Amino acid sequence: MKFFLDTANIDEIKKAVSWGVIDGVTTNPTLMAKEGKDVKETIQRIAEIVKGPVSVEGIGQTKEDMVIEAQEMNKWAENLVIKIPTTWEGMEAIKVLSKEGIKTNATLIFSPLQCVLAAKAGANYVSPFIGRLNDVGQDGTETLIEDTVTIFRKHGVQTEIIAASIRTPLDVLRVLKAGSHIVTIPFAVLEKMISHPLTEKGIGQFLADWNSRFSL
Ligand code: G3P
Repeated sequence: MKFFLDTANIDEIKKAVSWGVIDGVTTNPTLMAKEGKDVKETIQRIAEIVKGPVSVEGIGQTKEDMVIEAQEMNKWAENLVIKIPTTWEGMEAIKVLSKEGIKTNATLIFSPLQCVLAAKAGANYVSPFIGRLNDVGQDGTETLIEDTVTIFRKHGVQTEIIAASIRTPLDVLRVLKAGSHIVTIPFAVLEKMISHPLTEKGIGQFLADWNSRFSL
């Protein structure tokens, strides 16, 4: 069970790494644009802070452009994974890159069959986006994670599932219960996961009881 942080924000990554619960990072063009800084420098900085896999995504739409981008980005750091959109052009690119030993993460996935095809093409990771399905009234966990976990387990598929497009701590709980290998979590969602009012209440009561007896 692994947690990745879904952000390109260096401060968020540093904070989450200090909590000791982060195994990797995922980024995408939107998250990079949000930071507005040099992509290569940002990715290299992230790859220094996080020892686990760091996903970076290009914008190429053809097999040739995807492969060229991936080959260049893969030189930026040792622990990079290249995100490739789940299209037939993307499958061709994944097949080429997997033969070159470049790790890939098939992204923008919304069906179990897209997961299956990406795994067959040689993707190291698949990223089903459950939140965007939830956003349109479908149950992303039920329709996407549960079926993909079942198929991968039954057929001994080694590709790892990264449950992505996470909106709430409940999304995290549900995809973990469904058996996702990895969840990539926005910082704001991760931050909420530790909180419980009874924990806060209990700490207050312990302090009050202690002070009533031992009055620091
Ligand atoms: O980075 C991949 C995925 O987690 C993005 O999800 O729907 O919040 O843009 P979303």
